[in-house]
Amino acid sequence: MKIALIGFGNVGQGLAQILCEKAAVLQESHGFTPQVVAVATGRRGTLYHPDGLNLEALLVAASRGHLDYYPETEGLYRNWPVPEIIRQSQADVVVEVSPTNLETAHPALDYCYLALEHGKHLVLANKGPVVLAYHELRKRARQAGKQIRFEGTVMAGTPALRTGIQNLAGCFVFAVRGILNGTTNYMLTQMENGLSYNAALAQAQQLGYAETDPSGDVEGWDAAAKAVILAQSLFDAQLSIDQLEVEGITHLTPGDIRDAHQAGERWKLIAQVMPTGGSVKPVRLPLSDPLAHVSGAINAITYTTDLLGEVTLIGPGAGQMTTGFALLSDLLDIHRTM
Ligand code: HSE
Repeated sequence: MKIALIGFGNVGQGLAQILCEKAAVLQESHGFTPQVVAVATGRRGTLYHPDGLNLEALLVAASRGHLDYYPETEGLYRNWPVPEIIRQSQADVVVEVSPTNLETAHPALDYCYLALEHGKHLVLANKGPVVLAYHELRKRARQAGKQIRFEGTVMAGTPALRTGIQNLAGCFVFAVRGILNGTTNYMLTQMENGLSYNAALAQAQQLGYAETDPSGDVEGWDAAAKAVILAQSLFDAQLSIDQLEVEGITHLTPGDIRDAHQAGERWKLIAQVMPTGGSVKPVRLPLSDPLAHVSGAINAITYTTDLLGEVTLIGPGAGQMTTGFALLSDLLDIHRTM
């Protein structure tokens, strides 16, 4: 499988690290021998080599801040524009991991359309295109006979979408409810431990949980985006982010956190979604609620179903390797069908 990576930040580098570390086991256990042939960044250069790039050298170049630090190799092309890479790279799969833009999803959405037009499968951790153009992307993927996967857009590598779509297939899912943003859950936990709002946010950024622009996390838009993705993919809903009621955690003070603590409660940013709509808002949960015990960058989701009642999945919701794994799981799914 030849892969073109559009974006090479935290998540793209996470995937590259996993592919390095697990190369032998992926080949032995899954017959999977991926080759990253192209990497494109917004401002730190692009690389293309038809025979595959060296992942270790790629990670070193990225750690030095620019892909120009990748060693000169015969047959290597530098600084091709992204559309050129998509058209010419012979990649089987385009992996879109550039920063999320929930307002227009561009330029990522154009790259996604171009990839499908040129017969590539598509894997995304970038939420923008899925939130804004889910139905159109699905339609174009069907027309192209290609797959589109985006497990990493909701709860990182914890299989929230796969569980809902595949494992609960045959159940009717009435609603989902949960903690869908790692940054804010981490911040609320740290604020309960005595950290200030700003210090907790700085830590979440340092640990690679927050978006490039963290206002989407703390104002609730990231969780709302995930709620929309869940509604679209589980309920086939035509739901947009502005149809949700959204409130973030920006107004919560250490005093609010203390008051809840003294009352035997905890603040959590809770997302709820049904086929017709939903909400994201901070809620004071009693400690008897299992979601009150989900702490740090861990997320949780409860599916309310007809045949099983409530099913809850708990796992990492943000982070480099955890989201890198989401991409790997999507690539393996595509590999099995190729
Ligand atoms: N910023 C997101 C979060 C990353 O904190 O949950 C994972 O989508």
